[in-house]
Amino acid sequence: MFYVKHSKGWYFMGGRTKPYICLVLFRVERCSATKMGASIRRSIAVVNQKGGVGKTTTAVNLAAGLALAGHQTLIVDLDPQGNATTGLGVKKEGLYPTIYHVLLGSEPPHKATVGVVTGGLNLLPSDIDLVGAEIELVGLERREYRLREALEAEGDGAEYVIIDSPPSLGLLTINALVAADRVLVPLQCEFYALEGLAHLVKTIKLVRERLNPGLKILGIVLTPSHGRPVMLHDVRSNGAIAYLELTKEVLRHE
Ligand SMILES: Nc1ncnc2c1ncn2[C@@H]1O[C@H](COP(=O)(O)OP(=O)(O)O)[C@@H](O)[C@H]1O
Ligand SMILES: [Mg+2]
Repeated sequence: MFYVKHSKGWYFMGGRTKPYICLVLFRVERCSATKMGASIRRSIAVVNQKGGVGKTTTAVNLAAGLALAGHQTLIVDLDPQGNATTGLGVKKEGLYPTIYHVLLGSEPPHKATVGVVTGGLNLLPSDIDLVGAEIELVGLERREYRLREALEAEGDGAEYVIIDSPPSLGLLTINALVAADRVLVPLQCEFYALEGLAHLVKTIKLVRERLNPGLKILGIVLTPSHGRPVMLHDVRSNGAIAYLELTKEVLRHE
């Protein structure tokens, strides 16, 4: 289990890569390797059907950390919100092709791949078009295997593939779980998270039984939650001040 401290500046999206990645790297190094395409890869899906729990932050930091440690890494943005794409500095406007075209088989992965950090980090970007894939994939053959087969067909030399998934357990997330050999679950430290976790573990079990026998849970990344409103936790914090402003605005409109 990994614990990701909830303090400002601990994550790559804020501009710097931080030490918790080392913990994750330690565990990742011990994963078994999977033969995919021309190269040996370890592929890790970052999954939780709840939004805002730190999936993208974890995926981006982990991918950046792996690249910094000298491993060729591919991050696959499988969320139509495209936060990993934006977070890595790639503009979504006019982007073609994207992971959407790769999943539907109209473009190969290498055409959609963009380099984001010199020396080792590539991105398969996403944009809002990907919302349509959830529906369009339903009618296609081997719909759960689209990502896996696209990545297998074309080894781009990546040692690690990190897949950021959307906040649902739909076909996109199933594609992530089928393409991966390991799952990393960011989980907020709050009681209700456990209900969601039970459902997620059940889904992982089903995917393992029916679609991807090699799938294993790599670990849980604990992302903190104060368990009470931020204003009650620390009224002087930036988050609390923003909520106070919002409260004032709501009161003004009464
Ligand atoms: N370890 C962390 N410490 C501080 N803030 C975090 C941490 N992980 C995530 N966040 C913040 O929480 C919000 C949601 O994170 P995100 O990674 O986008 O979640 P998800 O991809 O699950 O929706 C973001 O604003 C992000 O900056
Ligand atoms: Mg996200």
